[in-house]
Amino acid sequence: MSSVSTSMLVAAATVQRTRAHVEAEDAAIARACLAQCGGAGSALLWLVDHAFGRLVLAWLERVLLPGLRAHYAWRKRRIAQWARQACADGAAQVVLLGAGYDGLGCMLARRHPGLRVFELDREASIAIKRRALQALCLHPTGLYLRATDLARADPLAALRSGGDFDPKLPTLCIAEGVLMYLSQAQASALLSALARDLARPTVVATAMDLRAGRPGFHREHAWVRRWLARRGEPFLWGCGRPELTAALSACGLQLQALADPADPVDPDPSPGEWLFLARRPDA
Ligand SMILES: C[S@@+](CC[C@H](N)C(=O)[O-])C[C@H]1O[C@@H](n2cnc3c(N)ncnc32)[C@H](O)[C@@H]1O
Repeated sequence: MSSVSTSMLVAAATVQRTRAHVEAEDAAIARACLAQCGGAGSALLWLVDHAFGRLVLAWLERVLLPGLRAHYAWRKRRIAQWARQACADGAAQVVLLGAGYDGLGCMLARRHPGLRVFELDREASIAIKRRALQALCLHPTGLYLRATDLARADPLAALRSGGDFDPKLPTLCIAEGVLMYLSQAQASALLSALARDLARPTVVATAMDLRAGRPGFHREHAWVRRWLARRGEPFLWGCGRPELTAALSACGLQLQALADPADPVDPDPSPGEWLFLARRPDA
């Protein structure tokens, strides 16, 4: 059986939230992607679709990382708000870095005719997303899926290769749940490329906090790190809150907003991942 990846876990959480407030299309895309993920995807779908399976998932979450699914919902809600605002403020392009099986790109392309939305991810994930969108007969004009490795020397080469990307247009870049899989040098190179190569970039991204000097969620069990390493998805880069502003500044970006994990009205259910919005100071 194929193995479970972190993007599949995020997708399973999205499917499970359907009954709450996730937009139906978001859940349909996550479900269709999981259906394309072989045996492990089918097993995850079985778990979320059955009461017993949901109990198992809830128990695993309580033991391994309490609040993880609610954390995904928390960050996705806020990212969608910032994305809607950026589109209202005139963003003409959106780039989703490590888009995985998320439905935001599709939703934005459908809601904003004329907006160009580029999803970048590894070849295997892009192939799954393509098949899933095809199965759902979703072909929004303006949505471009591009396979790339963001860890390479020129992380934006895939964007430039197509001819339909215009670096001079105001561009919203979203790196949700992906920078932690890059080394510090690779993450810096990626953020610096966004700041340097785009005329008017707005960057919405997440970065792991440091816990005992290592990137990780505050409440994660030690097994989580071992599982991520065995899966080939170890967290490589993280940044403490005092260093975040300087780290962004070194990449040519200015921190403009940070989602407060201790927000009294809407706190992060599982803290340990910063969610922020940054811009180039002169843009
Ligand atoms: C935890 S998932 C997050 C997916 C999505 N952004 C979300 O939050 O729903 C991480 C995603 O980053 C992608 N990714 C990790 N390292 C990458 C790399 N070096 N190049 C391209 N994509 C990468 C994975 O394939 C996966 O889809």
